[in-house]
Parts: sequence; structure tokens; C-alpha cells
Amino acid sequence: MRQIKVLMIGQGFMGGIAHPRAILEANLQLRPKGIEFVMDCVAGTNAEKLAVTQRAYGYGRTSTHWQKEVGKADLVVVTAPNKEHAGMALAGLKAGKAVVCEKPLSSSLETAREMAASAKKAGVPTMVTFCYQGAPAALEARRLIQGGAILGKSGYFEGTSEFLQDWGRGGRSNFRFHAEQGLGGVIEDLGAHQVDLVQFLLGKKVVELSAQTRVYDGDGEDLKMVRGSDRKARGKAVDAFEAVGYFDNGCAVTFRSNRTSTGHKAFFENSLHGNRGGVCWELEDQGYLKFYSHTRPDGSKVPDRERGWTHIHVSDPGGGGHMNTDTVPGLINGYLQYFRWQYLHLGLQLLGQPDKAYTVPTFADACQVQAVSDAIYRSGLKDGELTKVR
Ligand SMILES: NC(=O)c1ccc[n+]([C@@H]2O[C@H](COP(=O)([O-])OP(=O)(O)OC[C@H]3O[C@@H](n4cnc5c(N)ncnc54)[C@H](O)[C@@H]3O)[C@@H](O)[C@H]2O)c1
Repeated sequence: MRQIKVLMIGQGFMGGIAHPRAILEANLQLRPKGIEFVMDCVAGTNAEKLAVTQRAYGYGRTSTHWQKEVGKADLVVVTAPNKEHAGMALAGLKAGKAVVCEKPLSSSLETAREMAASAKKAGVPTMVTFCYQGAPAALEARRLIQGGAILGKSGYFEGTSEFLQDWGRGGRSNFRFHAEQGLGGVIEDLGAHQVDLVQFLLGKKVVELSAQTRVYDGDGEDLKMVRGSDRKARGKAVDAFEAVGYFDNGCAVTFRSNRTSTGHKAFFENSLHGNRGGVCWELEDQGYLKFYSHTRPDGSKVPDRERGWTHIHVSDPGGGGHMNTDTVPGLINGYLQYFRWQYLHLGLQLLGQPDKAYTVPTFADACQVQAVSDAIYRSGLKDGELTKVR
């Protein structure tokens, strides 16, 4: 059995819940193939909490000095807040270790580039947990797009991606609001997932865009906002944005996100339309993918009376494809299993048996997403000026 010793850095929402659970679950599918992740060490800042995390997941040891542990690991997993990503990931890469890093890759495009370049030089596997790629509905939407059911011969598409939450009304203490974690704010927090997912579904990249950004002025119940171009917004992390992203074929997708959208917990809707059909998926109703077929891939028209939205329940693999499901049809996998899907594929890659149908997002991929986030921020400073992705 090939063993991959894991150093988990961070033990919060990601390091204490999503990643270790995903790793343990992925092991159930990886062990029969001859590879397993070993919970070797968890590193963090709070020794008492580390002891609890160790007992929960069966880690071999804990550490309050992650730097001393990197050399002993096979895989370094970075789940600390954004501004810590670069230092931790670069240390892993320099030691020749495989590295998993949470999104956004870093707190600035410059450091993200350094990380991508260092990963290339090290030649080791990297993964950034753009977890929504592992959602069954996303994988099925991608399969339909790749199979020719949505885009026509011209490749034309249009679409929207909205990610709305309301927890941000509860105060500004969370690191996600702090400029030191990156001026992108919500662009890096939610927007990075949106840009990544839309590009993943379409297999195409945003090359230029026009965006408006806003920074909230005030707190709690009485929020006000100033535009990103306003002097009062300078040096503050962005709280809301709308962007029209243009792809190299001239097609456009509109992106919007906000963490103070009263009533929404995790409303993440992606709607993409081509000449042959459309797909639409919303995270709070994650069991279903909506699919509309206008023209079949063979070019024949779907008769008028048969046209309409089909609600596909994505829990049923139907004997093929690569939907992220190993549960009972009708009972959907949730958010934590999206991470399992990614660790499963990282494990297969480390084993030298990668799944041809799905490759995990790398540091290079995440750096390109960060370049789009950077362009959204820069366009917002100039009130929506058309801005090239660097
Ligand atoms: N992929 C996703 O869906 C998703 C969801 C949530 C968060 N994230 C990303 O994950 C990262 C962490 O978010 P979170 O919600 O888990 O935060 P969190 O505050 O819950 O946890 C952060 C952890 O990092 C530790 N930490 C901080 N500084 C450290 C240091 N110098 N050395 C060692 N440990 C340190 C903290 O002690 C804490 O355990 C962020 O970059 C965030 O953007 C991704």
C-alpha cells in the first residue's frame, strides 16, 4: 500500500472539517487501488484545539510550528487564511512536496504567480480546492456541454453566475473582510469559485471584462455602500461586484456576488445557454440540474411540443458518466463530498493512474483564476473600464 503522509495546516472550517473528512472518505475508494492518505500531522495555532482535532481524525501528532513539519510530509495541505497561503505552499514546493492549497491561491496576483512558477519548477502535483467542480450537477452540466448538447457549431454561449450569501450582515470580524487578506475580498472569496466553475464547465477562459465593485460603509442592519472607484473605498476589501466577462470568442458571461444578500445562505446559480440548449444549476437545490434541449447534437430539432426544461436528478449515475456519486439514487451527495471527489482524483494522480475524465485544478489553473479576480478589482477602480486579464 502506497502511503501519503499528510501535513494539515489549519484546523478551522476547511482544515478541521472539510479536508480531513474528505481525505478519510477518499481513502475508502483509494485503498482498494493500493494508495492511502495517512493523517500524520495537524499544525495550527491553538494547542488545545489541536489535541481535540488529533483525537477526532486520528492524527499521529500535532504541531504549533508547521515549518518544522514540512520536511516529514508527502503532502502539505494549506487551509490557513489567504495571506498565509504563499509562505506555506512555497515552503512545501521548495521541499519537493505535493501541495494542496485552499482558494484563492494567494492574496495577490504577484504571489500567486510566484506560487505557480514554483510549482512548475518543482514538478510536483498541486491542487487548489475549487470544490464546486465536484458537485454532481456541475459534472453533469460539463458532460452535456462537452457532448455537444448545449453549444452549436459556432460555439456561441451566454450566461450568468451568481453567488449570494447573507452571513456578512453579522459583522466584519471574519478575516474574509480584511484588506490584508487581499483587496479582492468577495471577488476572491466567492468570485474565484464562480470564475473557476464557469471556465471549467465551458472549457474556455475569460480574457477581458468590465466590472463594478462596491465596498460597504457601515455595519449590521444599516449597511451603506460606496463604489470601488470612490476614494472612500481605497485600501478596503471589495464587498460586492458585478462583472461581464468576455471569452476569446467574444461570448460573455455575467458574474455577481455579495455576502450581504438578505435571505440567501449559499445561493450559487450558474445558467449557461448555447444554440442547442441550456443548463442551469443552483447550489441550494443541488440535487437537480435543469437541462433544456432545443437542437440535438446530431443537428435535428427537438419538436416544439417536446421542448421544455428537464429536471435531472443528478444522484443517479445511470450506468456511466462521471457523476460524483456513490450513494443511493435519489439521495444526493453534498458539499463535503465535493472535496472527497477532488482528493479521490488527487490520490489517483499520485498513484500514477489519473482519471482521464477529470483532472484536479492545479496552481497554474488557480493563478489564471486569480488573474481574472485581479482584473475585476482593477476594472472596479475605474468604474467598469474594459480591462484585460493579465
Ligand atoms: N473551498 C471552499 O469552498 C472554501 C470554503 C471556506 C474557506 N475556504 C478557504 O479556506 C481558507 C481558510 O478558511 P476557513 O474558513 O477554514 O478559516 P478558519 O478561520 O475557520 O480556519 C483557519 C485556520 O488556520 C489557522 N491558522 C491561521 N494562521 C495560521 C498560521 N500562521 N499557522 C498555522 N495555522 C494558522 C487557524 O488557527 C485556523 O485553524 C481560506 O483561504 C478560505 O478562502 C475555502
